[in-house]
Amino acid sequence: MKEMLSWDQTLFKDSELFELDHIPEHFLHRDGQLQAMMYSIRPALGGGRPLNCLCIGAPGTGKTTAVIKIFEEIEKHAPQVVPVLVNCQVNSTRYAVFSQVFRKLIGYAPPTSGVSFKKIFNEISRYLAEHEKVLIVALDDMNYLFYENEVNEVLYSLLRAHETYPGVRVGIIAILSDTGVPHLFDPKVESVFLPEEIAFPRYSRDEIKDILSNRAKLGFYPGVLDDIVLDRITEHTSALGDLRVGIDLLKRSGLNAERRASRMISVEDVESAFGKSRLVHLSYIMQSLKEDEKILLRLVADAAQSSSGELYEKFHLKTNLAYTRFYELLNKLHSVKLIDADFTGKGSRGRSRVVTLRYNADEIKMRL
Ligand SMILES: Nc1ncnc2c1ncn2[C@@H]1O[C@H](COP(=O)(O)OP(=O)(O)OP(=O)(O)O)[C@@H](O)[C@H]1O
Ligand SMILES: [Mg+2]
Repeated sequence: MKEMLSWDQTLFKDSELFELDHIPEHFLHRDGQLQAMMYSIRPALGGGRPLNCLCIGAPGTGKTTAVIKIFEEIEKHAPQVVPVLVNCQVNSTRYAVFSQVFRKLIGYAPPTSGVSFKKIFNEISRYLAEHEKVLIVALDDMNYLFYENEVNEVLYSLLRAHETYPGVRVGIIAILSDTGVPHLFDPKVESVFLPEEIAFPRYSRDEIKDILSNRAKLGFYPGVLDDIVLDRITEHTSALGDLRVGIDLLKRSGLNAERRASRMISVEDVESAFGKSRLVHLSYIMQSLKEDEKILLRLVADAAQSSSGELYEKFHLKTNLAYTRFYELLNKLHSVKLIDADFTGKGSRGRSRVVTLRYNADEIKMRL
C-alpha cells in the first residue's frame, strides 16, 4: 500500500504555484515580446519619452505577466522611471485611472469625489516635472475603457500631458484582450498614439506543455504527474487556448488525486476536474460585471433565445435605461463572448438581433 497517501501527506510541494495570480519565476516563450517592450521603454532610461506600445492577444497568453515582469525590472534598476499598472476592469473611467497614477506617485489615493479631474491631472503633471520622473502607464484590459466609452479621453489626456506641462514625459502600454471585435480610436488619438504593436499569439501545444511541465515540477513532489497525464492536460488547454485552464487543471486534478489518497494524478482525475477548470475564464469575466450588465445577462439567460427588441423592453422595465445604453451593454456582453447576437435583417429599430447565451444557462445563473 505504499502508493497510498496518509491523511497528513500531500502531493503539493508548493500549492501557491497553481494560483492564477501567481507571478511565475520562469516566464517562458515570451522573449521576443519582452524585448520589444524593453526597446520601447529604453528612451525613458535616459530621461526621454518612451515609445507607446499596444500588446494584443487572446486571453491567457501572458500579456499581464509580461508587463509585470518588465515593471519589476524597472522598479529595480530605473529609479527615474515610475511604472504604474492600472487594471481597467476595476478602474474603468478616466478619473479612476488617473487616481491610480496619483496614488502611485504621491503615495495616497485622492478622494473619490469632490476633486476635479483637472486638479488630479495637474498634481500628477507637476510632480513629474518637479521630480524629473518619466511616467509609464500600463492600461491592462483596456477593453473595459472601450465599453465605458472612456478610452479616447484617457489616452488623449496621457498623450497631451507634455503640451500643458513642458518637460513631462509619459509612455503608454495599452493591453488589449483580442476578442475578434476591432478596436478603433478617435482620429485625434490615433494620430499621436502611434503605438508599437506587440502580438501575443496563442501558445503552441509544445509551448503549453513546456510551461505546464515547468509549473508542475516546481509545485508538485516528484512522480506526481507523468507524461501521459500531462499530455491530457495540454490537450484540454490547447483546445481552449487559455493557459489558465491548464494551471487550474493541474491544481484540481492534484486535489482529486489527494482525495483518492493516491500519490499520482490519473487521467480520470484530470477528466473530472475539467468540468470546473474549463470555466475559469467564465468566472474571471463574470466577476467584473456591473449591476446593469448582470440584469441584462440574466434576461438573456432566462430565455432560450430572444430578439434584441424583446430584450430591450424587459430591460427597460427593470432599469428604466434608454435604448442606446442597452445597446452598449449588449455589445459588451457580446464582445466578452458571453452571448451571441446575430443580425437578422428584420426589426423596426434598425436591424434586429437574435440573442443567445454562449454558456449553459445554469452555469451563468450560478455566477450571477
Ligand atoms: N509564458 C508563460 N510562462 C509561465 N506562465 C505563464 C506564461 N504565460 C502565461 N502564464 C500564466 O498564465 C496565466 C495567464 O497569464 P496572463 O494573466 O499574463 O494572461 P493575459 O494575456 O494577461 O490574459 P487576459 O487577456 O485574459 O488578461 C497566469 O497565471 C500566468 O502566470
Ligand atoms: Mg491580463
